[in-house]
Amino acid sequence: MTDDRTSIEARWHVVAPPQVVDSARALYAWMPRQRSGNLAFVDDPYDARREAHWADAARVADYAAALPAGGARVLDFGPGDGWPSLPLAAALPHAQVLGVDPAPLRAEVCRRNGARLGITNAAFVVGDGAALPVRDASIDLVTAAASLEEVREPEAAFAEIARVLRPGGVLRASYQVWRLPVPRFETITLVGGVDCLVFTYAVRTQNPPRERRYVLVLPPDGEAARLHTEALVASADARRAYGETLVDAASPLGVPLLERLAPLARASLVVELRRWTTEWLVEALRGAGFREVRATVHTGDLARMVGRQLIARGEAEALAPHFATVTRALGEAAAQQPGESMVTAIR
Ligand SMILES: C[S@@+](CC[C@H](N)C(=O)[O-])C[C@H]1O[C@@H](n2cnc3c(N)ncnc32)[C@H](O)[C@@H]1O
Repeated sequence: MTDDRTSIEARWHVVAPPQVVDSARALYAWMPRQRSGNLAFVDDPYDARREAHWADAARVADYAAALPAGGARVLDFGPGDGWPSLPLAAALPHAQVLGVDPAPLRAEVCRRNGARLGITNAAFVVGDGAALPVRDASIDLVTAAASLEEVREPEAAFAEIARVLRPGGVLRASYQVWRLPVPRFETITLVGGVDCLVFTYAVRTQNPPRERRYVLVLPPDGEAARLHTEALVASADARRAYGETLVDAASPLGVPLLERLAPLARASLVVELRRWTTEWLVEALRGAGFREVRATVHTGDLARMVGRQLIARGEAEALAPHFATVTRALGEAAAQQPGESMVTAIR
């Protein structure tokens, strides 16, 4: 137990005793949209003039290329709003994609997005990555985008993925590389949820590699809403990291705000996520029974860089008719390039 935990939680337990939950229940269960509405292909058709679309299209091509020849059964681990399951199902019309997410709201949002797009070969169920609702050796490809590290006991999830993949089946996953610029930093997020407001105070540490989040689910009106709005305004110009607002120990927006909001909360939750180095991940996957494990560059980063250069040189539009071919080549190339942001593991 760290000092952080002792000092913050000692006070926290007095004002609002927290329930220890996993990230799906603490965060993703409340968010109307997990990807800020920015699910390329689902919300927008691909556009060669947008570098994010270069990244997304190449990532889908990468996942599609990871499907072993003759395979058709894909499981997407923690699909959020349908990423990559929905664009992947569209890219692989002969495949059946099953998205598994513990947050019921996420499964519902994925289904809605799929229905809106008329995608009929993707289904979504509520289920935990540590107990996947499918038979042994019944899956050809497991995809996971920024979701393996959301599980409280990642080794249990790796063993479960190994169980459901058939021999020769593939796990292709992206993950957050835990290289913090400082040993420890704190952030807050203030967001609107479904019929609620959410305040999160997070502490990230390099050693041990860990992210600990204190989450308050607040009523959407009254004093809680007033404080939430006030804090949003006060944090508008603050520095940001990971898309969140950085706070320092002296900031009234950190622990002091947590304490002010806690008595008003409908739920008070704590989630602790372990993070890892690539070395640790590769060894853990081998330990779970994968016979070949390879860490690679992040396909999205590579394709985004290429897209950015083409856009800057004014060449992207002329390449638009070849967008699918070029992004496919980028996706396939990235999956072969050694690096530290994605992993391919063969059962
Ligand atoms: C950072 S989001 C990524 C979502 C999506 N793959 C994307 O890239 O946009 C993490 C997702 O993992 C899910 N998740 C959390 N705990 C999980 C678990 N134990 N098993 C499977 N998925 C989980 C969350 O509910 C959420 O949808």
